[in-house]
Amino acid sequence: MVEPAEVQHGLEDVVALESRICFIDGKQGRLIYEGYDIRDLAARSTFEEVAYLLWYGRLPTATQLSELTRRLVELRRLPDALATEIDELPVTAHPMDILRTAVSALALREPSETKPGESSIGGAQRLTAVLPSILGRFHRRRAGLPPLRDRPELSHAGYLVYALLDRDPTELEARAIDVALILHADHELNASTFAARVTASTLSDLYSAVTSAIGTLKGPLHGGANERVMELLDEIGTVDRVEEVVKGKLSRHERIMGFGHRVYKVEDPRATILREWSRRIGDAHGSLRYYELLRKVEEVVLREKGLYPNVDLYSGSVYSLLGIPHDLFTPVFASSRVAGWTAHVLEEYHDLRLIRPTAKYVGAIDLPYVPIAQRH
Ligand code: COA
Repeated sequence: MVEPAEVQHGLEDVVALESRICFIDGKQGRLIYEGYDIRDLAARSTFEEVAYLLWYGRLPTATQLSELTRRLVELRRLPDALATEIDELPVTAHPMDILRTAVSALALREPSETKPGESSIGGAQRLTAVLPSILGRFHRRRAGLPPLRDRPELSHAGYLVYALLDRDPTELEARAIDVALILHADHELNASTFAARVTASTLSDLYSAVTSAIGTLKGPLHGGANERVMELLDEIGTVDRVEEVVKGKLSRHERIMGFGHRVYKVEDPRATILREWSRRIGDAHGSLRYYELLRKVEEVVLREKGLYPNVDLYSGSVYSLLGIPHDLFTPVFASSRVAGWTAHVLEEYHDLRLIRPTAKYVGAIDLPYVPIAQRH
């Protein structure tokens, strides 16, 4: 028995387990998936290729990639009963709540994947493929768009855009979304992945682990930050107001979403890549307004607070320019991170040890029990 150490609030700097999936060098600003630098993957790879890398630990051959792509297309289809259940959920709900509920409900329809210890790469592929279909089914109903059709020729990124917007992305837009999906696919022991691994470490199933992860990603300190960045830009309005609004927030000790990171002490490499995509997509859409606002926000936050942008700062501007509603930003994040969650859950099963830290007790002890009639 190890003596309890000092409390590491928020588990900061605690090394909880060994993993071969993802490495973050917070001092150098580097992110590595299975040995490959994120900058190479973002420049040369596709989401499907990265998902294969995370699940199998190596880049696929051309045959393996086309086989996985075909499988993911096949696995997009929602069971009819689940589609009907999604149609009965309130249109006013946040899409992250829909996603969490639908994954949980899907588990009831796919019992073979939910037996303890029997989850497989097949389940990982099913969950990854199906998230855009769940989102499309829900969003199209509330937005009055026609029902989803099979679009086997579309990649995960292309189908996600089609599912949400009922249009095909341009080549540039499809690449921008594919890059965003690559950049979001994994990030070591971030809060939602940790939640997934904690669930898996009890020998619970993959679908339960992903349900936990979706609930964790939803929070504004994690995946919900990109949505809040766009709210900030709406509040600011024009570049000449950035200084006043941002300084005002900082003086009231409010957090500026899209800045700061538990692990990166320099710029998040994903922000560097997405900044350039924000400019490119802005240029193609004839509007650099978001890009210019964000550049100015960056300047003020760095000067006033010494904080660097994280992945969430620029992703929302790319999604907004495509026409994706703000409340779908975090679900788009989930449609990518699911590849990482499931890879981590499978790794957890492989190296299983119940995750169960301890707490430093700061409450009372040995209180005399007072019968209820004598309490006041
Ligand atoms: N805006 C303003 N101040 C911030 C900040 C932000 N985005 N992020 C951190 N800080 C400040 C804190 O207020 C604190 O200041 P203090 O020491 O004067 O109290 C200091 O920096 C340390 O912050 P702390 O919350 O302890 O760091 P953390 O490692 O726990 O937080 C985040 C990491 C990501 C939760 C935090 O940076 C944050 O809330 N960022 C905004 C949300 C966001 O973009 N999330 C997406 C992450 S990818």
